[in-house]
Amino acid sequence: MPYEDLIVEVHDKVALIRLNRPKALNALNDNMMNELGEALYKFDADPAIGCIVLTGSEKAFAAGADIAAMVDYTFPDTYRDNYIGRNWEHILRIRKPVVGAVAGYALGGGCELAMMCDFLIAADNAKFGQPEIKVGVTPGAGGTQRLPRAIGKAKAMDMLLTARTIDAAEAERIGLVSRVIQADKLIEEVLTVARQIAAMPLSVSMQIKDAVNRAFETTLSEGVTYERRLFQASFGTPAQKEGMKAFLEKRLPNFEGL
Ligand code: HXC
Repeated sequence: MPYEDLIVEVHDKVALIRLNRPKALNALNDNMMNELGEALYKFDADPAIGCIVLTGSEKAFAAGADIAAMVDYTFPDTYRDNYIGRNWEHILRIRKPVVGAVAGYALGGGCELAMMCDFLIAADNAKFGQPEIKVGVTPGAGGTQRLPRAIGKAKAMDMLLTARTIDAAEAERIGLVSRVIQADKLIEEVLTVARQIAAMPLSVSMQIKDAVNRAFETTLSEGVTYERRLFQASFGTPAQKEGMKAFLEKRLPNFEGL
């Protein structure tokens, strides 16, 4: 199905979703967030897909929520119509791995959307920031919550209160992104990473994602107990039989359909 504000491609078992409003540096509006939800749910339900990549353009992952759309909102509009809550968090309900590939600006809501991915790979031209304070609002899609969890209180407060942007090298150093890639190689490299993930047993990658996300919502002992149950349950799965037998038989495992 064609989308107005997204470009969607499938590369083997990897779905690539590109935010695509180039004239507005991919500023995130309602239509784009609705379409993103549709595309994400479609690929989450598609048994042929093992990993999803979310990206923007070389110039911008997304320069924020759409300021032109927001400028005249009133509090009753945003509260009554559940602005942000109504369509920004579809990505959090996706059970398959979602890798964010960030080139250019990831600002405000763009940085917040990126942080909802499971992990981020950045191009060397990436810039991350939470400049909402400069347009008179607080972050609204997790910036004050996910940023300190990702990079610690000092760096997060610095970015949130001064609106300072950080470059890809600093983002990698402080743990906001896992790797930095030359900008013109970003998509190629991220697709390679996503193909590696998609070649793993999907039931296991989904459980790892579930367990890691639980680490941010629960106590250490509850989280470790949950992990142990998942590990023990692995022994009832074909993925464990195939993976361990393949190792002992000195061959590559075949996790197709597992
Ligand atoms: C609407 C935007 C936009 C945005 C850029 N554009 N960001 N439109 N919402 N967030 C538009 C510009 O108006 C312009 O349109 C076109 O994209 C190109 O932008 P320029 O500013 O001309 O480009 P440049 O000089 O290269 O500067 C790039 C930039 C700057 C540094 C990223 O655009 C910028 O500061 N953007 C706003 C960043 C921001 O404040 N983000 C947070 C928004 S609040 P025209 O038509 O003039 O060509 C937010 C709240 C989140 O995100 C909370 C809930 C999710």
